[in-house]
Amino acid sequence: MAPLKRQMHLGVFWLGTGNHTAGWRYEGAATSNNSWPVVAAGAQTAERGKLDLFFVSDSLVMDPGDHPSFVSRFEPTTLIGALSAVTRHVGLGATVSTSFSEPFNVARAFGTLQHLSGGRAAWNVVTSSHNAAARNFGRERLDEHDLRYEIANEFVDVVKGLWDTWDEGAIVPDKATGTFLDKSKVHPLDHKGRFYSVKGPLNIDRCAHGHPLIIQAGGSPPGQELSARTADIVFSVVNGDKPSAKAAYDSLKQRTIKYGRAPDDIAIEKMSLRDLYNVTAAARGHWVIYGTPPRIADIFEEWFTAELADGFIIMPAYFPGAFEAFVELVVPELQRRDLFRKNYSGSTLRDHLGLPPSPSKRIAV
Ligand SMILES: Cc1cc2nc3c(=O)[nH]c(=O)nc-3n(C[C@H](O)[C@H](O)[C@H](O)COP(=O)(O)O)c2cc1C
Repeated sequence: MAPLKRQMHLGVFWLGTGNHTAGWRYEGAATSNNSWPVVAAGAQTAERGKLDLFFVSDSLVMDPGDHPSFVSRFEPTTLIGALSAVTRHVGLGATVSTSFSEPFNVARAFGTLQHLSGGRAAWNVVTSSHNAAARNFGRERLDEHDLRYEIANEFVDVVKGLWDTWDEGAIVPDKATGTFLDKSKVHPLDHKGRFYSVKGPLNIDRCAHGHPLIIQAGGSPPGQELSARTADIVFSVVNGDKPSAKAAYDSLKQRTIKYGRAPDDIAIEKMSLRDLYNVTAAARGHWVIYGTPPRIADIFEEWFTAELADGFIIMPAYFPGAFEAFVELVVPELQRRDLFRKNYSGSTLRDHLGLPPSPSKRIAV
């Protein structure tokens, strides 16, 4: 039975060599971001901890001087496709940029991942921020910031529109009559917008578990608008300052109302980093929390109950040890306090987040 008490959501930000730049140098730490056994075990650890989400970030550029996990990284949608076969419950989030993809490709990839994972796929919508990435795609630089978000808004609308080109139950394989498809349940999109022109329909049918979920982490005003309008999960960076976190949380929930959505349609997850060993070098702009499991649980509890966050994305300094310690020591402490699930109550990411199935209707874009 679903718990009556509000419970927090937890996710992990996967970087195989650890979120700490030098995490891989720690004794026993994994030294690769593209070792299949390491990442598969990491996703299984997330599932053992009953986490909502295993999250894979991305960029489209290789800078030899960068964080070790940015130098060599698996392509995220391919990776979560493989992970969907070795996990059963944990949500799988993959990043794809709206600056270097086409909506049809993205709709198709995540439509497929939603099927493969049994309703656990989520797309982290990013607009990219490095001009160097543009030079891998025949361009000198990115579009300017706000224009990237105008493009992203239309991009997401088209992707959702393509997912809606199929109604539920369109494939009706009737061996006796020979009818395979109920054509009345598949529709063109006929989208002609400022940036995209997409005929449709999509060439993958609607998943019984509804649409993949949308993750967004834009911090700027247009980024927050995109979140409020389209996202199911929002990552928000905090530095530990409660008034500013509360203002950001409330403002985003309010913005959702403007778009005809309920504030609870969106889950806001703060980024945190559990690093018991070195609190200075690892933060990468994120909030560093350290200490005993009860102390860490205290901080999560305080922020969660004050409605400064609906959950937390943890960024372990290194894998697997620091992540296993979180799952084995902090998660049970949160469970004892009835702040976090002891078991999954469903099998889809929507179930974990308490979101209703996406409506079986088409949206106009
Ligand atoms: C937790 C988190 C994960 C992010 N992951 C990515 C990523 O994988 N790739 C990327 O290009 N940007 C990523 N971003 C950057 C955001 O999409 C966004 O560009 C950034 O927060 C700045 O906001 P703005 O784009 O509204 O200016 C991430 C941000 C956060 C907070």
